[in-house]
Amino acid sequence: MHNDIPSLPLNNGNQIPQLGLGVFQVDDATDTKNAVKWALKAGYRHIDTAAYYGNEQWVGEAIRESGLKREDVFVTSKLWNSDRGYDQTKAAFQATLDKLGFDYLDMYLIHWPAPGYAESWRAMEDLYKAGKIKNIGVSNFQQSQLETLMKTATVKPVVDQIETHPYFQQNDLHAYLETQGILHEAWSPLGGGKNNALTDPIITELAAAHDVSAAQIILRWHVQREEIVIPKSVHEARIAQNRDIFAFGLDEDEMHQIADLDAGKRVGPNPDDEAWLKQSQSYSGRK
Ligand SMILES: NC(=O)c1ccc[n+]([C@@H]2O[C@H](COP(=O)([O-])OP(=O)(O)OC[C@H]3O[C@@H](n4cnc5c(N)ncnc54)[C@H](OP(=O)(O)O)[C@@H]3O)[C@@H](O)[C@H]2O)c1
Repeated sequence: MHNDIPSLPLNNGNQIPQLGLGVFQVDDATDTKNAVKWALKAGYRHIDTAAYYGNEQWVGEAIRESGLKREDVFVTSKLWNSDRGYDQTKAAFQATLDKLGFDYLDMYLIHWPAPGYAESWRAMEDLYKAGKIKNIGVSNFQQSQLETLMKTATVKPVVDQIETHPYFQQNDLHAYLETQGILHEAWSPLGGGKNNALTDPIITELAAAHDVSAAQIILRWHVQREEIVIPKSVHEARIAQNRDIFAFGLDEDEMHQIADLDAGKRVGPNPDDEAWLKQSQSYSGRK
C-alpha cells in the first residue's frame, strides 16, 4: 500500500487533501511556524486555521518561508461568529487574507451557525464567484441549519467541518452530508485531548496489532469513513506520525469495533445551543 496523502473531490470539481494540520490553540509564533513547517516537511499540503485562532499571520509566514509555492498548499480559514452581515463578512475575509499575506484563500468556512449566517454566506458566494475564495463551506452546522442555509444559497457548501471522534461519531449527520454531496471534515479527530480516546483499550489493542500508535488507528478510522482529518500537534514526531496513516488499513471487523465506541459525547459546544451561539457573538476572535 502506498503512503501518499489522497485528495478527495469536492462538489464543485475541486479537490482537497484528505489530511491537514490543525492549529487551534497554537498561540505563539514559534510554535505555529514550527508546526506548519514540520507538517510541510512531512508532506502535508493542507493547513486549517481560523480568524479566531489568532495565528493566521504565522501560518502565512511559515508557508512563505517553507519555499513551497502558494498554490501547492491548501489553506482553510474561518469567519468568526461576531462577523455577520454582508459588508462585515467581506471586511473580515479581507483581514484574514491580509494576515495570511495571500491574495486568495483555498477554503473559507462559516465557523459556527451563529445568527446572521445567511447574509454572511451571500458575501462568501460573491467572493467565491470573484475567485478570491476557491471553495466555501460551513462548520458546526446541523442538518436543520444546513437546510435553512440552502433555502437562500446559490452555491452549495463543499464541506461541513464538525466535531467527530470515536466517542462522538456523528453518524446521522454523516449520512445526511453524503446525500448532499457535502464532505464531512472531522475536527478534534483525536478527541482534542479532552477525552480518553487515545487510551481506550479497543484503540490500544488495535494499535498493538498493527504496530502503530493509538492516534494512527483513530485517524485511519476517519479516513476510511471518507472524512477529511485535521489533527493538531506542536510536536514534530507526532506531526510526522499522524501523516503516516495511508500504508495500512483496518478491516471491516476492526472498523465495527471502533463504531461500537460511539457514546454520543461531545468535547466542544453544541451547535444547537442558541444561548452559547449568541454569547459567542459578543467577543471578537481577531487579535
Ligand atoms: N471548526 C471548529 O469549530 C473547530 C473546533 C476545534 C478544532 N478545530 C480544528 O480541528 C483541529 C484539530 O482539533 P483539536 O486541536 O481540537 O484536537 P485533536 O487534533 O483531536 O487533538 C489534539 C491533541 O492531541 C494531541 N496529539 C496530537 N497528535 C498526537 C499523537 N500522535 N499522539 C498523542 N497525542 C497527540 C495534541 O497534543 P500536542 O499538540 O502536545 O502534540 C493535542 O493535545 C484544530 O487544530 C482546528 O484546526 C475546529
